[in-house]
Amino acid sequence: MENTHNFFTPKHNLIGVGSIKDLANELLNWKLSKALIVTDKNLIKVGWVEQVEKILKNVFVFYDIFDGVTHTNPTVSFVEAGMSYFPGEFDLKRDYHLIISIGGGTVHDCAKGIAAVATNGGSIIDYEGYNKITKPGLPHIAINTSYSCAEMTMFAIITDESRRVKMSIASPNIVPLLAVNDPMLQITMPPEITAESGIDSFGHALEAFLSTEASPVSDSLALRTIKLVCTYLRRAHENGFDLQAREQIMYADVMAGMAFNTAGLGYTHSLGHQLGGFYNQLHGNYEGILLPHVFRYNAVTVPEERIFWLADAMGVPVSTKSKTAEKIFDGMKTLAADVGIPDGLRKMGVQKEDLPELARQALKDIAGFTNPRQGTEEDMIDIYKSAM
Ligand SMILES: [Fe+2]
Repeated sequence: MENTHNFFTPKHNLIGVGSIKDLANELLNWKLSKALIVTDKNLIKVGWVEQVEKILKNVFVFYDIFDGVTHTNPTVSFVEAGMSYFPGEFDLKRDYHLIISIGGGTVHDCAKGIAAVATNGGSIIDYEGYNKITKPGLPHIAINTSYSCAEMTMFAIITDESRRVKMSIASPNIVPLLAVNDPMLQITMPPEITAESGIDSFGHALEAFLSTEASPVSDSLALRTIKLVCTYLRRAHENGFDLQAREQIMYADVMAGMAFNTAGLGYTHSLGHQLGGFYNQLHGNYEGILLPHVFRYNAVTVPEERIFWLADAMGVPVSTKSKTAEKIFDGMKTLAADVGIPDGLRKMGVQKEDLPELARQALKDIAGFTNPRQGTEEDMIDIYKSAM
């Protein structure tokens, strides 16, 4: 019986309060001396970019800053704007050795796109799907300020505005070289982003746990993530300066990223990606709304024992399989409501007449290929309707 699991993670990870200070040593070790920083204007305003600039200057790394990531979903245009910093082989000043992304998922995914196109050529649109990026991207250091897991993973989700489609791009060649998760850089995250990216980590863990590619490695990471999010997300949302809660949700983000890097995702993401491409709202809010409904759709195919493990991680009482699954459904809805996730897709502007097109696109999204129950367009529409 052949049943293999590949496990990808950044070569180095700096994790914990104060871990940003070790960035200098990492840069000296890698001997990469010209960087393009990818970030957004808000991260400059709160001071995190300046903090990284000081470290770069101390170790004589030259850099330019691309701060053109201007909204919540990375786009082909952002990647192209970043690529405009690479005008040609004769401009040595701009012949970058590495990309440094400072921010959340939008910034990291945009940086992955730039890193891939810089070494593989063409357009980021050429790489939609699984394993289409054949050469390693430019070395990429991802300094994380939210809980999207994007600083860890082999996935980049980038919107092609011309088709209003969020492309899922997956390749080991875009896993960052180094990920930095210092909770001190996450304390300025507003409550709304704390909630939506924290719920997104929960969704990454849940989908990895239910995936057809789940293994004992991904199970351990996923179940621990779920326990941490259920225990600490309300506190991190309520008080952004609660460093203990921030630190535990940061660990949840790291473990969820590791889990889905090996096990993949499911329909919550393939359905959620399409909503992001169409309506351009926060990804984690779509996830928070869809999670219980996709779980209810999947639960019939999940073995009883695994439903009970999930209940245990969430602190939900165990009884029969079906009753426990309903309690898990309720638990997810309550968690989402407690941290202010909108109550239904309608409140996020989703239109009923768009559902057939969204469902069609969702079935093509590689995120759904590892969902434990494979469905039809009608199934996708039904899930969307139940979450309206
Ligand atoms: Fe996600």
